[in-house]
Amino acid sequence: MQQAHGKLLITGSSGQIGTELTGTLVERYGADRVIATDISKPGRKDCNTAALDVTEADSVKNIVKKEGVTTIVHLAAILSAKGEKTPDFAFDVNVNGMRNVLSAAAAVSGVKLFFPSTIGIFGADTPRDNVPIETITRPTTMYGITKLFCEQLGEYYFRRYGLDVRGLRLPGIVSYKTPPGGGTTDYSIEMLRAAAGGENYTCFLKKETMLPMMYMPDALGAIVKLLEAPSSALVHRTNFNVMAFSFCPSDLENEIRKINPGFSVSYAPDERQEIADTWPRSLDSSAAAREWGFSAKYTLSEMVRDMLMNLAPLPEK
Ligand code: SER
Repeated sequence: MQQAHGKLLITGSSGQIGTELTGTLVERYGADRVIATDISKPGRKDCNTAALDVTEADSVKNIVKKEGVTTIVHLAAILSAKGEKTPDFAFDVNVNGMRNVLSAAAAVSGVKLFFPSTIGIFGADTPRDNVPIETITRPTTMYGITKLFCEQLGEYYFRRYGLDVRGLRLPGIVSYKTPPGGGTTDYSIEMLRAAAGGENYTCFLKKETMLPMMYMPDALGAIVKLLEAPSSALVHRTNFNVMAFSFCPSDLENEIRKINPGFSVSYAPDERQEIADTWPRSLDSSAAAREWGFSAKYTLSEMVRDMLMNLAPLPEK
């Protein structure tokens, strides 16, 4: 178990990443140090829990002060596809939520704050392959616009108030424990779930839509590494690119068919295709590797095997 001073507060802890990351942090820092929050009080029993609406500035401030919070893992956010359905709500949660968390953190000295940014901060003008951290960032979704703002607001709090803010741009995250909350990369999980359930799948992206992705265990490992990196080692702050591999829907289909030859996918792109068309195919993760030792272990085929094993027993050979 690692030493951590004070309490560690997680927002959005019932989401796709939150449910798993909370478990990882409880293992690392101890149950009594972790407070898992979400808009409704999380049902988990392995740590302290509370209901917390990040759009309510006073509630955020109060919990940080009252509990003696020294680390905040701010996951509460509205993802790309859902954000296009409810842009005002996405703005409120993503922008005002971030501002409230930053300002509560800055009001107490010595607080560290982590939040995930996204490949959604890039746009159609960004080069597509091996995208560097600094490049053209003109996102066109509410999700991308708000997360780019979060990156920059985070840097502002670091420069102006010395707040230890850290963030990385996650690619699509594939996992089996908790479904994602309305993203564009969700097709990958839906496809694997269909295959595991013995069903075929209709994909909402075109078969050649290549996007950067990562398996959940590598995402959890990356977040913990960045959270624990010595502050002095960080040249960048809120905008580290990270990815494990790139694939398109037909690559995933083919990988599944190696295990389950009867599986098939039909393609019926919807409005989410427009979002995916503005995102890069791959990212340059070298600054993350250099500054805090980022690495991803799982390959695409290892991920597919592990997902199918965990979602359903593999067919007899
Ligand atoms: N998984 C996210 C989404 O598709 C990308 O950060 O919205």
